[in-house]
Amino acid sequence: MIRLFLLSQGPSRRTFVATTAAVGGAVVVGGLVPGPFELGAEEAAAADALPSSRVSLTVNRERHTVTVDNRTSLLDLLREHLDLTGSKKGCNAGACGACTVLVDGRRVNSCLTLAVRLEGADVTTIEGLADGDELHPLQQAFIDQDAFQCGYCTPGQIMSGIGCVQEGHTGSPEEIRESMSGNICRCGCYVKIVRAVQQTAHRK
Ligand code: FES
Ligand code: FES
Repeated sequence: MIRLFLLSQGPSRRTFVATTAAVGGAVVVGGLVPGPFELGAEEAAAADALPSSRVSLTVNRERHTVTVDNRTSLLDLLREHLDLTGSKKGCNAGACGACTVLVDGRRVNSCLTLAVRLEGADVTTIEGLADGDELHPLQQAFIDQDAFQCGYCTPGQIMSGIGCVQEGHTGSPEEIRESMSGNICRCGCYVKIVRAVQQTAHRK
């Protein structure tokens, strides 16, 4: 009885396949027409276009307005759009400090900072420190103390050192080390970097 019910009420395999073809993807003579979940060429192009935004900000006392992909980091904005390559890309993940810059006077890892969030911000990079031929005191202190070898980490160390001095974390070598702990130096120049920061702090 049950077997008879199944045979008479349920769709046959042939009926099922025919129904699925009709609903899921209409086949027309000469080719396939887009199914309900397929994009036309125009829609696909729109989906491919990356969302972008305009952002206006000041970098080293100069106003810039740029249109960037919304995912662009401040570091890439500086390096790729403004040709300011002093800030270095080490880890690109917030772990080395090579990309440190000042935003509104506070040090940030530019690799982790979205450019589109900086509308109206005031950014200072290593290129903006010197006054003509006159180096910033901390730049001079790095030279005086011989505080670098390869120099790759140095722009980030100097920007972070400026933050350290401005924030007043220079009471002792230990305090400076703690305050600068986000900046890694592969060459191991830490002792001299601390001396350079101390030299600058004592000038204040
Ligand atoms: Fe930004 Fe390493 S490159 S923290
Ligand atoms: Fe080479 Fe710091 S001077 S990584």
